[in-house]
Amino acid sequence: MAEVIAILNQKGGCGKTTTAVNLSTSLALYGKNILVIDMDPQANATTAFGLEKNEDNSIYRVLTGQQTLDEAIVATEISGLDLLPSHISLSGAEIELSKDIGFPFILKEAMDDVLENYDYIFVDVPPSLGILTINSLVAADRVIIPIQAEFYALEGMADLLDAMNLVETRLNSPSPIKGILITLYDSRTRLGRDVYKNVKQYFGETEYIFKTTIPRNVKLAEAPSHGKPCVIYDEECIGTEAYNALAQEFLIMSGEEVEENK
Ligand SMILES: Nc1ncnc2c1ncn2[C@@H]1O[C@H](COP(=O)(O)OP(=O)(O)O)[C@@H](O)[C@H]1O
Ligand SMILES: [Mg+2]
Repeated sequence: MAEVIAILNQKGGCGKTTTAVNLSTSLALYGKNILVIDMDPQANATTAFGLEKNEDNSIYRVLTGQQTLDEAIVATEISGLDLLPSHISLSGAEIELSKDIGFPFILKEAMDDVLENYDYIFVDVPPSLGILTINSLVAADRVIIPIQAEFYALEGMADLLDAMNLVETRLNSPSPIKGILITLYDSRTRLGRDVYKNVKQYFGETEYIFKTTIPRNVKLAEAPSHGKPCVIYDEECIGTEAYNALAQEFLIMSGEEVEENK
């Protein structure tokens, strides 16, 4: 039975897609069966896996009831890792979907058929607090919130936490377990260290903050243009090391034994 993890933050550019792509690939290399659902109309996760933005198979068609989720899934080059691609047509879906009274539950219900097939399902969420994010939150057992180590890191965090509370209270949807991930981190700078301290203060004792931080690493930014996750594109770089460490921490957090990476 798959656990569903939404990767979200309504801020763009904080490393959501990079985390979805590389954490999921690293877990597949550890032998887990993974599905990545690209919920962002920009389809960055889809291209990062070297796949076409294909209108015939897409999360848009699933959410609008034209395809089952199982039908829309495509295999990637990585063994044990499937993808549900996105397409720009999804950008017009918010209004269309809002006409369905049960709109917050569409993704969760669509997932039912495939939960048995995977260990983990990652949802790469677009940078907004709209219908696509609400669907992702309702479907999620856990969320990972990447926070970029910059001066404005915590701006908007209250809105995100409010949205999560509303989903819990209004939709009666169990609150997902949160994991805070610091990205684009530079421990050598005072700013980097300050942001880390602020995040610790903000989330205090209540939320889990990953011990692994993701450093700024040019290979992570380069890899998508080669259509490969960084953890495969360059097995040695510090970006890959960080995402492999994150995968290990994630598995330990999930109560799994960690074996050697394949
Ligand atoms: N740790 C990192 N080091 C260097 N570049 C990164 C890192 N994480 C993300 N990037 C780059 O920053 C940009 C935004 O990252 P992305 O993962 O797409 O963020 P989001 O999905 O939150 O918008 C992309 O060009 C990506 O390649
Ligand atoms: Mg993204």
